[in-house]
Amino acid sequence: MSFNIAIDGPAGAGKSTIARRVAKELSFLYVDTGALYRAIGLYLIRNGVSAEDEQALPEACRQIHIDIAYENGEQQVYLNEENVTGQIRTEEIGKMASAAAAKPCVRELLLNLQRDLAARADVLMDGRDIGTNILPGAQLKIYLTASVKTRARRRYLELVQKGDECVLEEIEKVIEERDYRDEHRDIAPLKKAEDAVLVDSSDMSIDQVVEQIIELYRQRRRG
Ligand code: DC
Repeated sequence: MSFNIAIDGPAGAGKSTIARRVAKELSFLYVDTGALYRAIGLYLIRNGVSAEDEQALPEACRQIHIDIAYENGEQQVYLNEENVTGQIRTEEIGKMASAAAAKPCVRELLLNLQRDLAARADVLMDGRDIGTNILPGAQLKIYLTASVKTRARRRYLELVQKGDECVLEEIEKVIEERDYRDEHRDIAPLKKAEDAVLVDSSDMSIDQVVEQIIELYRQRRRG
């Protein structure tokens, strides 16, 4: 049987950096599920479909096929056979992904893809509802969070490094709005699974978080 690790938490908690590192050290397949929702967001933006359009959205969902593959160990996301991995990391797409992720047809579209991957291999999957909904039987569940201020500062530094102009307070506001939307939607809201271990990375380095998760994994393996 495959071993599944679920890491959930809000935007900017460091999930993908940490998940990627842990997966590499444990030789697990890393599945970034946010990228799947982002690919759907990209489709909706390209086709001018609003996530709030109750007719057009289910119609669009029927036209969307999402798949993932790995190239040199890096996850690649395919939207209707087109590799869109390099196009989905914008704030606009993140916002659309978050709005679309609140809708049943969108979650339905990605459910089996995620479960099939986890059944086939040892995976470390990060997202919002992995421990609560997608892989309720995961052997290790982590809820990784950090304060809004910490997450905004990290995102700000990341953007500044890329040469983007940005204002810290605005980033803080966007993060708060996204948290609210992800936590308050009716289906599969972002919340800590009862059996998840809470890790608050506000005052921890990436190395410390990675070590803690690997230690938790070893403990689970030892049973
Ligand atoms: O992790 P991310 O920022 O790439 O995710 C983009 C959006 O996708 C996020 O705001 C909420 C949604 N999402 C989700 O609802 N469930 C997941 N498992 C992963 C992401």
